Amino acid sequence: MKLAVPAERRVNEARVAATPDTVKRLKGLGLDIVVETGAGNGASIPDQAFADAGATIAADAASALADADIVFKVQRPMTADEGTDELALIKSGALVAALFDPYRNRPLVQACAERGVRAAAMELMPRITRAQSMDVLSSQANLAGYRAVIEASQNFGRAFPMMMTAAGTVPPARLMVFGVGVAGLQAIATARRLGAIVSATDVRPATKEQVESLGATFVAVMDEEFQQAQTAGGYAKEMSDAYKAKQAALIAETIKKQDIAITTALIPGRPAPKLISADMVKSMKPGSVIVDLAVENGGNCELSQPGQIVDVGGVKIVGLLNMPSRIAVDASALYAKNLFNFLSAFFDKKAGTLNLDPDDEIVKGVLLTRDGKVVHPAFAATAAGA
Ligand code: NAI
Repeated sequence: MKLAVPAERRVNEARVAATPDTVKRLKGLGLDIVVETGAGNGASIPDQAFADAGATIAADAASALADADIVFKVQRPMTADEGTDELALIKSGALVAALFDPYRNRPLVQACAERGVRAAAMELMPRITRAQSMDVLSSQANLAGYRAVIEASQNFGRAFPMMMTAAGTVPPARLMVFGVGVAGLQAIATARRLGAIVSATDVRPATKEQVESLGATFVAVMDEEFQQAQTAGGYAKEMSDAYKAKQAALIAETIKKQDIAITTALIPGRPAPKLISADMVKSMKPGSVIVDLAVENGGNCELSQPGQIVDVGGVKIVGLLNMPSRIAVDASALYAKNLFNFLSAFFDKKAGTLNLDPDDEIVKGVLLTRDGKVVHPAFAATAAGA
Protein backbone atom coordinates (compact mmCIF):
# COMPACT_ATOMS: atom_id res chain seq x y z
CA MET A 1 0.00 0.00 0.00
CA LYS A 2 1.35 3.41 -0.98
CA LEU A 3 1.25 6.55 1.18
CA ALA A 4 2.05 9.91 -0.44
CA VAL A 5 3.24 13.13 1.16
CA PRO A 6 3.00 15.94 -1.42
CA ALA A 7 4.60 19.35 -0.92
CA GLU A 8 2.22 22.00 0.43
CA ARG A 9 1.35 24.56 -2.25
CA ARG A 10 -0.79 27.08 -0.41
CA VAL A 11 0.74 30.42 0.56
CA ASN A 12 1.79 30.79 4.20
CA GLU A 13 2.20 27.05 4.63
CA ALA A 14 5.66 25.90 5.69
CA ARG A 15 4.63 22.71 7.47
CA VAL A 16 4.85 19.17 6.13
CA ALA A 17 2.67 16.18 7.01
CA ALA A 18 5.48 13.69 7.69
CA THR A 19 8.93 13.72 9.25
CA PRO A 20 11.77 11.21 8.98
CA ASP A 21 10.59 9.81 12.32
CA THR A 22 7.02 9.20 11.13
CA VAL A 23 8.25 7.87 7.78
CA LYS A 24 10.13 5.17 9.71
CA ARG A 25 7.04 4.39 11.77
CA LEU A 26 4.81 4.27 8.69
CA LYS A 27 7.25 1.94 6.98
CA GLY A 28 7.04 -0.19 10.10
CA LEU A 29 3.35 -0.67 9.30
CA GLY A 30 4.40 -2.07 5.92
CA LEU A 31 3.58 1.00 3.84
CA ASP A 32 5.59 2.35 0.89
CA ILE A 33 6.18 6.06 1.43
CA VAL A 34 6.62 8.58 -1.37
CA VAL A 35 7.54 12.19 -0.52
CA GLU A 36 7.47 14.94 -3.13
CA THR A 37 10.82 16.68 -3.55
CA GLY A 38 11.11 19.82 -1.42
CA ALA A 39 8.11 18.89 0.76
CA GLY A 40 10.18 19.33 3.91
CA ASN A 41 11.99 22.55 2.94
CA GLY A 42 9.83 24.85 5.08
CA ALA A 43 10.32 22.60 8.10
CA SER A 44 14.09 22.21 7.58
CA ILE A 45 13.83 18.59 6.44
CA PRO A 46 15.91 17.92 3.30
CA ASP A 47 14.86 15.25 0.79
CA GLN A 48 17.88 13.20 1.86
CA ALA A 49 16.57 12.94 5.44
CA PHE A 50 13.29 11.52 4.12
CA ALA A 51 15.21 9.18 1.80
CA ASP A 52 17.44 8.02 4.67
CA ALA A 53 14.30 7.18 6.65
CA GLY A 54 13.16 4.95 3.79
CA ALA A 55 10.96 7.19 1.63
CA THR A 56 11.12 7.40 -2.16
CA ILE A 57 11.45 10.99 -3.42
CA ALA A 58 9.10 11.93 -6.26
CA ALA A 59 9.89 14.72 -8.71
CA ASP A 60 6.46 16.37 -8.64
CA ALA A 61 2.96 16.18 -7.16
CA ALA A 62 1.61 14.04 -9.99
CA SER A 63 4.21 11.31 -9.53
CA ALA A 64 3.99 11.51 -5.72
CA LEU A 65 0.21 11.11 -5.75
CA ALA A 66 -0.11 8.61 -8.61
CA ASP A 67 -1.76 5.43 -7.28
CA ALA A 68 -1.43 6.51 -3.63
CA ASP A 69 -3.90 4.72 -1.37
CA ILE A 70 -3.31 7.18 1.47
CA VAL A 71 -2.38 10.87 1.21
CA PHE A 72 -1.04 12.84 4.17
CA LYS A 73 -1.32 16.62 3.81
CA VAL A 74 -1.34 19.66 6.02
CA GLN A 75 -3.73 21.84 4.01
CA ARG A 76 -6.78 20.63 2.09
CA PRO A 77 -6.06 19.63 -1.51
CA MET A 78 -6.18 22.38 -4.12
CA THR A 79 -8.67 22.27 -6.96
CA ALA A 80 -8.39 23.41 -10.60
CA ASP A 81 -9.44 27.02 -9.89
CA GLU A 82 -6.65 27.37 -7.29
CA GLY A 83 -3.68 26.37 -9.48
CA THR A 84 -2.45 22.78 -9.35
CA ASP A 85 -5.50 20.51 -9.27
CA GLU A 86 -4.25 18.26 -6.49
CA LEU A 87 -7.64 16.63 -6.01
CA ALA A 88 -7.67 15.41 -9.61
CA LEU A 89 -4.29 13.73 -9.02
CA ILE A 90 -5.62 11.63 -6.13
CA LYS A 91 -7.13 8.29 -7.09
CA SER A 92 -10.70 7.37 -6.30
CA GLY A 93 -10.96 5.44 -3.02
CA ALA A 94 -7.82 6.99 -1.49
CA LEU A 95 -7.87 8.28 2.08
CA VAL A 96 -6.79 11.93 2.34
CA ALA A 97 -5.99 13.11 5.87
CA ALA A 98 -5.58 16.89 6.11
CA LEU A 99 -6.92 20.08 7.64
CA PHE A 100 -9.97 20.57 5.39
CA ASP A 101 -11.43 23.62 7.17
CA PRO A 102 -14.75 22.10 6.07
CA TYR A 103 -17.13 24.72 7.46
CA ARG A 104 -15.59 27.30 5.13
CA ASN A 105 -15.01 24.93 2.22
CA ARG A 106 -18.27 23.10 1.68
CA PRO A 107 -17.85 22.94 -2.13
CA LEU A 108 -14.55 21.09 -1.62
CA VAL A 109 -16.30 18.55 0.62
CA GLN A 110 -18.73 17.91 -2.24
CA ALA A 111 -15.86 17.76 -4.76
CA CYS A 112 -14.08 15.14 -2.62
CA ALA A 113 -17.25 13.04 -2.63
CA GLU A 114 -17.54 13.35 -6.41
CA ARG A 115 -13.88 12.41 -6.83
CA GLY A 116 -14.55 9.33 -4.67
CA VAL A 117 -11.82 10.09 -2.11
CA ARG A 118 -12.26 9.51 1.59
CA ALA A 119 -11.58 12.90 3.13
CA ALA A 120 -10.61 12.87 6.81
CA ALA A 121 -10.80 16.36 8.36
CA MET A 122 -8.27 16.14 11.15
CA GLU A 123 -9.57 19.26 12.89
CA LEU A 124 -12.86 17.44 13.57
CA MET A 125 -11.11 14.84 15.74
CA PRO A 126 -13.36 14.20 18.73
CA ARG A 127 -11.93 15.29 22.07
CA ILE A 128 -12.04 11.87 23.67
CA THR A 129 -9.25 10.19 25.62
CA ARG A 130 -8.54 7.63 22.89
CA ALA A 131 -8.02 10.40 20.33
CA GLN A 132 -5.80 12.69 22.39
CA SER A 133 -2.66 11.65 20.53
CA MET A 134 -4.42 12.44 17.22
CA ASP A 135 -5.70 15.86 18.29
CA VAL A 136 -4.25 18.28 15.73
CA LEU A 137 -6.17 21.26 17.08
CA SER A 138 -4.41 20.85 20.41
CA SER A 139 -0.95 20.18 19.02
CA GLN A 140 -1.08 23.16 16.68
CA ALA A 141 -2.94 25.57 19.00
CA ASN A 142 -0.40 24.98 21.74
CA LEU A 143 2.44 26.09 19.45
CA ALA A 144 0.35 28.97 18.05
CA GLY A 145 -0.21 30.26 21.59
CA TYR A 146 3.51 30.22 22.25
CA ARG A 147 4.33 31.86 18.93
CA ALA A 148 1.69 34.59 19.42
CA VAL A 149 3.57 35.81 22.49
CA ILE A 150 6.86 35.79 20.55
CA GLU A 151 5.23 37.81 17.74
CA ALA A 152 3.86 40.23 20.34
CA SER A 153 7.29 40.75 21.86
CA GLN A 154 8.76 41.33 18.40
CA ASN A 155 6.27 44.13 17.75
CA PHE A 156 6.57 45.61 21.24
CA GLY A 157 9.15 48.31 21.88
CA ARG A 158 9.57 47.35 25.49
CA ALA A 159 10.75 44.41 27.58
CA PHE A 160 8.43 41.88 29.23
CA PRO A 161 10.14 41.48 32.62
CA MET A 162 10.76 44.14 35.22
CA MET A 163 14.44 45.08 35.23
CA MET A 164 16.09 47.11 37.96
CA THR A 165 19.23 48.66 36.57
CA ALA A 166 21.63 51.42 37.59
CA ALA A 167 20.06 53.57 34.89
CA GLY A 168 16.56 53.09 36.20
CA THR A 169 13.76 50.56 36.46
CA VAL A 170 12.11 49.00 33.43
CA PRO A 171 8.48 48.22 34.34
CA PRO A 172 7.04 44.79 33.52
CA ALA A 173 4.67 44.47 30.57
CA ARG A 174 1.00 43.87 31.27
CA LEU A 175 -0.43 41.19 29.01
CA MET A 176 -4.00 39.95 28.78
CA VAL A 177 -5.14 36.73 27.11
CA PHE A 178 -8.67 36.50 25.68
CA GLY A 179 -9.91 32.92 25.44
CA VAL A 180 -8.22 30.32 27.60
CA GLY A 181 -8.33 27.14 25.54
CA VAL A 182 -5.21 25.30 24.48
CA ALA A 183 -3.62 28.32 22.72
CA GLY A 184 -4.55 30.74 25.49
CA LEU A 185 -3.11 28.55 28.24
CA GLN A 186 0.20 28.27 26.40
CA ALA A 187 0.21 32.04 25.77
CA ILE A 188 -0.25 32.64 29.51
CA ALA A 189 2.54 30.22 30.40
CA THR A 190 4.91 31.73 27.82
CA ALA A 191 4.21 35.33 28.84
CA ARG A 192 4.72 34.41 32.50
CA ARG A 193 8.06 32.78 31.69
CA LEU A 194 9.10 36.00 29.96
CA GLY A 195 8.20 37.95 33.08
CA ALA A 196 4.99 39.78 32.10
CA ILE A 197 2.15 40.47 34.51
CA VAL A 198 -0.59 38.33 32.99
CA SER A 199 -4.37 38.33 33.23
CA ALA A 200 -6.88 36.33 31.20
CA THR A 201 -10.57 36.05 30.45
CA ASP A 202 -12.93 33.34 29.19
CA VAL A 203 -16.61 32.45 29.38
CA ARG A 204 -16.11 28.89 30.65
CA PRO A 205 -15.94 28.60 34.44
CA ALA A 206 -13.36 25.77 34.32
CA THR A 207 -10.78 28.22 33.02
CA LYS A 208 -10.67 30.29 36.23
CA GLU A 209 -8.69 27.70 38.14
CA GLN A 210 -6.47 26.94 35.13
CA VAL A 211 -5.57 30.62 34.74
CA GLU A 212 -4.84 31.01 38.43
CA SER A 213 -2.75 27.84 38.55
CA LEU A 214 -0.45 29.45 35.95
CA GLY A 215 0.04 32.50 38.16
CA ALA A 216 -2.22 34.83 36.16
CA THR A 217 -5.28 36.81 37.26
CA PHE A 218 -8.73 35.76 36.04
CA VAL A 219 -11.03 38.55 34.87
CA ALA A 220 -14.59 37.75 33.74
CA VAL A 221 -18.26 38.45 34.18
CA MET A 222 -19.10 35.50 36.45
CA ASP A 223 -22.91 35.54 36.40
CA GLU A 224 -25.38 32.66 35.99
CA GLU A 225 -24.92 32.50 32.23
CA PHE A 226 -21.16 32.12 32.75
CA GLN A 227 -21.81 29.06 34.94
CA GLN A 228 -23.60 27.41 31.95
CA ALA A 229 -21.31 28.55 29.13
CA GLN A 230 -19.50 25.26 28.54
CA THR A 231 -21.01 22.69 26.18
CA ALA A 232 -20.82 18.95 26.85
CA GLY A 233 -17.95 18.85 24.34
CA GLY A 234 -15.93 21.31 26.43
CA TYR A 235 -16.39 24.25 24.04
CA ALA A 236 -17.85 27.70 24.62
CA LYS A 237 -21.40 28.65 23.62
CA GLU A 238 -22.35 31.83 21.82
CA MET A 239 -23.24 34.20 24.68
CA SER A 240 -26.44 36.30 24.92
CA ASP A 241 -26.47 39.97 23.94
CA ALA A 242 -26.94 40.88 27.61
CA TYR A 243 -23.83 38.93 28.61
CA LYS A 244 -21.86 40.42 25.70
CA ALA A 245 -22.74 43.93 26.87
CA LYS A 246 -21.56 43.22 30.43
CA GLN A 247 -18.42 41.55 29.11
CA ALA A 248 -17.69 44.52 26.82
CA ALA A 249 -17.96 46.95 29.74
CA LEU A 250 -15.50 44.86 31.77
CA ILE A 251 -13.05 44.53 28.87
CA ALA A 252 -13.25 48.27 28.12
CA GLU A 253 -12.22 48.95 31.71
CA THR A 254 -9.43 46.35 31.75
CA ILE A 255 -7.87 46.72 28.32
CA LYS A 256 -6.79 50.31 28.62
CA LYS A 257 -4.36 49.24 31.38
CA GLN A 258 -2.81 46.53 29.17
CA ASP A 259 0.27 46.74 26.97
CA ILE A 260 -0.44 43.55 25.07
CA ALA A 261 -3.59 41.58 24.22
CA ILE A 262 -3.43 38.05 22.81
CA THR A 263 -6.82 36.93 21.55
CA THR A 264 -7.68 33.27 20.91
CA ALA A 265 -11.46 33.08 21.48
CA LEU A 266 -13.35 30.72 19.17
CA ILE A 267 -16.77 29.10 19.00
CA PRO A 268 -16.75 25.94 16.82
CA GLY A 269 -18.52 26.38 13.48
CA ARG A 270 -19.31 30.07 14.11
CA PRO A 271 -17.52 33.36 13.53
CA ALA A 272 -15.11 34.30 16.33
CA PRO A 273 -16.70 36.52 19.00
CA LYS A 274 -15.81 40.21 18.63
CA LEU A 275 -14.27 41.11 21.97
CA ILE A 276 -12.11 44.18 21.24
CA SER A 277 -13.93 47.09 19.58
CA ALA A 278 -12.36 49.99 17.68
CA ASP A 279 -12.99 52.24 20.70
CA MET A 280 -11.19 49.79 22.99
CA VAL A 281 -8.18 49.81 20.62
CA LYS A 282 -8.19 53.61 20.74
CA SER A 283 -8.19 53.52 24.55
CA MET A 284 -4.89 51.60 24.61
CA LYS A 285 -1.54 53.36 25.01
CA PRO A 286 0.60 53.99 21.90
CA GLY A 287 3.12 51.16 21.60
CA SER A 288 0.59 48.55 22.71
CA VAL A 289 0.21 45.36 20.68
CA ILE A 290 -2.76 43.11 19.91
CA VAL A 291 -2.11 39.67 18.42
CA ASP A 292 -5.35 38.25 17.03
CA LEU A 293 -5.05 34.48 16.68
CA ALA A 294 -8.73 34.27 15.71
CA VAL A 295 -8.20 36.40 12.59
CA GLU A 296 -8.86 33.48 10.23
CA ASN A 297 -12.30 33.05 11.80
CA GLY A 298 -13.23 36.70 11.50
CA GLY A 299 -11.06 37.98 14.34
CA ASN A 300 -11.66 38.85 18.01
CA CYS A 301 -10.65 42.46 17.34
CA GLU A 302 -12.81 44.63 15.13
CA LEU A 303 -9.79 46.21 13.43
CA SER A 304 -7.71 43.10 12.67
CA GLN A 305 -6.75 42.64 9.02
CA PRO A 306 -6.04 39.08 7.86
CA GLY A 307 -2.38 38.64 6.98
CA GLN A 308 -1.39 42.16 8.04
CA ILE A 309 0.10 44.13 10.89
CA VAL A 310 -1.82 47.40 11.06
CA ASP A 311 -1.07 50.47 13.14
CA VAL A 312 -4.07 52.24 14.66
CA GLY A 313 -3.02 55.36 16.53
CA GLY A 314 0.26 53.71 17.59
CA VAL A 315 -1.37 50.40 18.58
CA LYS A 316 -0.14 47.52 16.43
CA ILE A 317 -2.70 44.89 15.55
CA VAL A 318 -1.05 41.68 14.37
CA GLY A 319 -3.32 39.62 12.11
CA LEU A 320 -0.76 37.12 10.84
CA LEU A 321 -2.30 34.04 9.25
CA ASN A 322 -1.44 30.44 10.05
CA MET A 323 0.55 30.96 13.23
CA PRO A 324 1.56 27.26 13.55
CA SER A 325 3.34 27.55 10.19
CA ARG A 326 5.60 30.22 11.75
CA ILE A 327 7.01 27.53 14.01
CA ALA A 328 7.03 24.95 11.25
CA VAL A 329 9.65 22.50 12.54
CA ASP A 330 7.87 21.70 15.80
CA ALA A 331 4.40 22.10 14.29
CA SER A 332 5.25 19.59 11.54
CA ALA A 333 6.72 17.10 14.00
CA LEU A 334 3.59 17.13 16.18
CA TYR A 335 1.13 17.19 13.26
CA ALA A 336 2.94 14.32 11.53
CA LYS A 337 2.80 12.32 14.75
CA ASN A 338 -0.94 13.05 15.09
CA LEU A 339 -1.48 11.68 11.56
CA PHE A 340 0.59 8.58 12.25
CA ASN A 341 -1.36 7.89 15.45
CA PHE A 342 -4.65 8.24 13.57
CA LEU A 343 -3.64 5.93 10.75
CA SER A 344 -2.01 3.29 12.93
CA ALA A 345 -5.18 3.03 15.06
CA PHE A 346 -7.07 1.79 12.01
CA PHE A 347 -4.35 -0.08 10.15
CA ASP A 348 -4.15 -3.83 10.34
CA LYS A 349 -0.43 -4.45 10.01
CA LYS A 350 -0.74 -8.22 9.57
CA ALA A 351 -3.31 -8.02 6.79
CA GLY A 352 -1.86 -4.79 5.35
CA THR A 353 -5.33 -3.24 5.22
CA LEU A 354 -6.91 -0.03 6.40
CA ASN A 355 -10.17 -0.60 8.27
CA LEU A 356 -12.07 2.66 8.78
CA ASP A 357 -15.02 1.26 10.71
CA PRO A 358 -17.91 3.66 9.94
CA ASP A 359 -19.33 3.08 13.44
CA ASP A 360 -16.13 4.06 15.23
CA GLU A 361 -16.46 7.37 17.09
CA ILE A 362 -13.22 8.73 15.64
CA VAL A 363 -14.09 7.74 12.05
CA LYS A 364 -17.57 9.23 12.47
CA GLY A 365 -16.01 12.41 13.77
CA VAL A 366 -13.45 13.05 11.04
CA LEU A 367 -14.65 11.33 7.87
CA LEU A 368 -16.36 13.80 5.54
CA THR A 369 -16.84 11.62 2.48
CA ARG A 370 -16.87 7.96 1.54
CA ASP A 371 -18.10 5.90 -1.43
CA GLY A 372 -18.89 9.01 -3.47
CA LYS A 373 -21.08 10.58 -0.77
CA VAL A 374 -20.78 13.25 1.90
CA VAL A 375 -21.27 11.14 5.03
CA HIS A 376 -20.47 13.58 7.85
CA PRO A 377 -23.74 14.66 9.52
CA ALA A 378 -22.65 18.32 9.73
CA PHE A 379 -22.15 18.50 5.95
CA ALA A 380 -24.38 15.81 4.42
CA ALA A 381 -27.57 17.90 4.63
CA THR A 382 -26.09 20.96 2.89
CA ALA A 383 -24.46 18.75 0.29
CA ALA A 384 -27.81 17.19 -0.59
CA GLY A 385 -29.40 20.59 -0.88
CA ALA A 386 -26.49 22.11 -2.82
P1 NAI B 1 -11.31 26.97 21.19
O1 NAI B 1 -10.14 27.13 20.29
O2 NAI B 1 -12.60 26.49 20.63
O3 NAI B 1 -11.61 28.38 21.91
C1 NAI B 1 -10.60 29.07 22.61
C2 NAI B 1 -11.18 29.61 23.90
O4 NAI B 1 -12.02 30.74 23.62
C3 NAI B 1 -12.04 28.64 24.68
O5 NAI B 1 -11.49 28.48 25.98
C4 NAI B 1 -13.41 29.31 24.73
O6 NAI B 1 -14.10 29.07 25.94
C5 NAI B 1 -13.03 30.79 24.60
N1 NAI B 1 -14.14 31.66 24.22
C6 NAI B 1 -15.14 31.44 23.32
N2 NAI B 1 -15.99 32.48 23.29
C7 NAI B 1 -15.51 33.42 24.16
C8 NAI B 1 -15.93 34.71 24.55
N3 NAI B 1 -17.04 35.25 24.05
N4 NAI B 1 -15.20 35.38 25.48
C9 NAI B 1 -14.07 34.82 26.00
N5 NAI B 1 -13.62 33.60 25.66
C10 NAI B 1 -14.33 32.90 24.76
O7 NAI B 1 -10.91 26.07 22.43
P2 NAI B 1 -9.89 24.87 22.53
O8 NAI B 1 -8.54 25.38 22.78
O9 NAI B 1 -10.07 24.00 21.36
O10 NAI B 1 -10.40 24.13 23.83
C11 NAI B 1 -11.78 23.80 23.97
C12 NAI B 1 -11.99 22.80 25.07
O11 NAI B 1 -11.49 21.52 24.71
C13 NAI B 1 -11.37 23.14 26.40
O12 NAI B 1 -12.31 22.77 27.38
C14 NAI B 1 -10.18 22.24 26.46
O13 NAI B 1 -9.76 22.00 27.79
C15 NAI B 1 -10.75 21.01 25.81
N6 NAI B 1 -9.76 20.09 25.29
C16 NAI B 1 -9.95 18.76 25.50
C17 NAI B 1 -9.06 17.84 25.00
C18 NAI B 1 -9.27 16.39 25.20
O14 NAI B 1 -8.73 15.61 24.51
N7 NAI B 1 -10.09 15.97 26.12
C19 NAI B 1 -7.89 18.28 24.25
C20 NAI B 1 -7.79 19.69 24.08
C21 NAI B 1 -8.71 20.55 24.57
